[in-house]
Amino acid sequence: MLRIDVLTLFPEAFSGYLSHSIIGRAAEKQVVDIRLHNIRDFTHDKHSTVDDYPYGGGAGMVMKPDPIFEAVEFVKTENQAADCRIVLLTPQGKLFTQELAGKLIEGNHIILICGHYEGIDERVAQHLATDEISIGDYLLSGGEVAAMVIIDCLVRLLPGAIGSSASLVEESHMEGLLEYPQYTRPPEYRGWKVPDVLLSGNHKEIANWRRAQSLRRTASRRPDLLNKAALTDKDNKMLKSIDLNNN
Ligand code: ADE
Repeated sequence: MLRIDVLTLFPEAFSGYLSHSIIGRAAEKQVVDIRLHNIRDFTHDKHSTVDDYPYGGGAGMVMKPDPIFEAVEFVKTENQAADCRIVLLTPQGKLFTQELAGKLIEGNHIILICGHYEGIDERVAQHLATDEISIGDYLLSGGEVAAMVIIDCLVRLLPGAIGSSASLVEESHMEGLLEYPQYTRPPEYRGWKVPDVLLSGNHKEIANWRRAQSLRRTASRRPDLLNKAALTDKDNKMLKSIDLNNN
């Protein structure tokens, strides 16, 4: 079972989220064990101080290293996994991708550290964290939302988390491409029809159409992904025949 410990100043931010459908059920089924810890509980002074002024001056506050080190040490004594990854969530980190998610679930213990204020004392990144991860090129006010993004992405990859593994197989088949469009009933809504091929019952044609749609979308919306995607000769032929002006 994968164990995830989250160190945060706002554990209550997670509770509703972690009990929601897939993640809540995964925890019930003991596919994942997620534990929240308040960094403030690892302070020793009267005011439970977690932040302080930046050396060198400047605006804002910086999170102190000591409660974070102590929180990690507490968690590591509780769960003595050999291959624990200690992840600091920060906009300075390596970009989180599906590929990195796959690597993270290879181990069985992950500690996520959520920062706040203007930043975290650099000694946490240098001497405690094994990884620094960013979920995208934008600034959040804290690492909590980033931690939830990562937890969501990891948990749905765990065996047993999602009812049918068929959807995961389908996703990995799409590897590196955007998804094709999906439709459900009714077959016509406000005059907009579901593409005929999807109603045809011809599975081979449907598969071809879907692949062509994925390629077309990726080429027009995210051409950067095509370089990394696993494309067959047939895919490359399809791509050549795609009219990008008609999407
Ligand atoms: N903390 C603030 N912004 C962040 C981001 N983009 N990714 C991860 N952690 C963050």
